[in-house]
Amino acid sequence: GLKKKEVNVLCLGLDNSGKTTIINKLKPSNAQTQDIVPTIGFNIEKFKTSSLSFTVFDMSGQGRYRNLWEHYYKEGQAIIFVIDSADKLRMVVAKEELDTLLNHPDVKHRRVPILFFANKMDVREALSSVKVSQLLCLENIKDKPWHICASNALRGEGLPEGVDWLQDQIR
Ligand code: GTP
Ligand code: MG
Repeated sequence: GLKKKEVNVLCLGLDNSGKTTIINKLKPSNAQTQDIVPTIGFNIEKFKTSSLSFTVFDMSGQGRYRNLWEHYYKEGQAIIFVIDSADKLRMVVAKEELDTLLNHPDVKHRRVPILFFANKMDVREALSSVKVSQLLCLENIKDKPWHICASNALRGEGLPEGVDWLQDQIR
C-alpha cells in the first residue's frame, strides 16, 4: 500500500497527567496494554492515522526526568502536551514547564504544532478546557499553531478530535 509519512511527536506534561494512557489508547486495540505504570525516562511508541505514521517519544513527567525532555526537542515535529484538568494545585507547575518548553532555543523559533489535552475530564472536579487554557495562558502562543481538547483517556474520548487536528497541521 501507500507509505504513510513518518512524523516524530513528543508527548510531554507532568507525571500522572495521562500521557502513556493517551498514547496507549491511540494504538490499535490488539496492541494496547492493560497495565500502565509510571514511565521511567521515556518510551518510544508508534501509532498510525489515516495519512501519517507517528513515532511518539512518551517522556516521563516526574521531576527527576524532566531534564531529559530538552534533548529530544530537535527531533519533534509536533508536541502533545497533556494536563491533568483535575490537578488544580499543580496547574502552576504545568505552566512553568510549558513556558520553559516554549522558551527553549530548539522550540522557540520553530513552527511546531502543539496539541494540548485537558485530560481527566471525567473527574468531577476537573476544570474545563477553556479554564485550563486560561490558566496556562495559551492565547499568548502566537507563533505556533495550537489546539486544546478535553479528553478522557480511559475511554478515549476527545482523542480522535485532537489527533485529527494534529494530522491536518502536518500534511
Ligand atoms: P508519567 O509516566 O509518570 O509521566 O505519567 P503519565 O502522564 O504517563 O500518566 P499515566 O498515563 O501513567 O496515567 C496516570 C494515572 O492517571 C493512571 O492511573 C491512569 O489510569 C490515570 N488516567 C489517565 N487518564 C485518565 C483520565 O482521562 N481519567 C481518569 N480518571 N484517569 C486517568
Ligand atoms: Mg507515562
